[in-house]
Amino acid sequence: MIKTREVILYTGKTGSGKSTLFRENIKKSDRAIIIDTLSEYELLAAPFPALFIDTIYQLYDYLAENAHRNFRIVFAADNLDEEITLKDGETLTVIESVCKLVYEHLEQITLGIEELSYFVSPGFAPKYLRRIIRAGRHSGISLHATTQRPPEIPPVIRAQITKLYSFRQHEPADLQWIERCVGNKTEAQKLRGLERFTWPGPMVKDRHYKEFIL
Ligand SMILES: Nc1ncnc2c1ncn2[C@@H]1O[C@H](COP(=O)(O)OP(=O)(O)OP(=O)(O)O)[C@@H](O)[C@H]1O
Ligand SMILES: [Mg+2]
Repeated sequence: MIKTREVILYTGKTGSGKSTLFRENIKKSDRAIIIDTLSEYELLAAPFPALFIDTIYQLYDYLAENAHRNFRIVFAADNLDEEITLKDGETLTVIESVCKLVYEHLEQITLGIEELSYFVSPGFAPKYLRRIIRAGRHSGISLHATTQRPPEIPPVIRAQITKLYSFRQHEPADLQWIERCVGNKTEAQKLRGLERFTWPGPMVKDRHYKEFIL
C-alpha cells in the first residue's frame, strides 16, 4: 500500500494565525495527536473538540486499547522536558517519549507539534523525531509543526518539508531561511506584503498567508 505523508511547517510572528491554520488542517485528519506545548488548547475546547491527555502513561494506556481507531488527542503535560524512564528502560524526555510512541506503535497518523523550536535547535533534533522524519512514506506518519522562528529548525527537518505555510514576515534572517527552504527569493519577498490576520477571519490564502509546495 502506498502511504501518504507530509511534513508541514507553519511560520509567522506571534498572533499571526499559525495555530489557527494548523488546527484547521489537522481537523481534516481522522487520527491525530497534537502536542500542546504552551497549554493553550484547553481554552479552545469548544471550537476544538479533542481528548485531552496530560501524562505519557495515560497516553500509552489509551493507545494500547485504541491504536487502530480514529482519535484526536491533545497532549499537554506540565513539563514536556522532564526525563522519565520507560518500561523498556530507555530514559527520555516526555516529548521524546511521545515521538517514540508514535514512531514505534502508530501508522497513518498526524503528529502535530506546537512551537517546534522549543524542542529543536539549528544543530539538534530529538532522536525519535528524526526517526519519524527519516522513516518517510514507509510510516505514513505526517508531521505538522508551528514555529515563530524558522532559523531554529535544523536542516534534517528542513530538508524533508513538503509544504510550508508562512504568514507575514519582515525579519531578514527569517526571510532568508524561507528563501533557502522554498528556493524562490521573489516569492519569499512577497511575505513582506501580506495582511495581518484578525480573528475570526476568514483567513485567506495569498492575503494572510502563502503556501509553498516543496
Ligand atoms: N478560539 C479563539 N478565540 C478567539 N480568538 C482567537 C481564537 N483562536 C485564535 N484567536 C486569535 O486569532 C489570532 C491568531 O491566533 P493564532 O493562535 O492562530 O496565532 P499564532 O500565530 O499561533 O500565535 P502564537 O505564535 O502566539 O502561537 C490571535 O489574535 C488570536 O488571539
Ligand atoms: Mg500558536
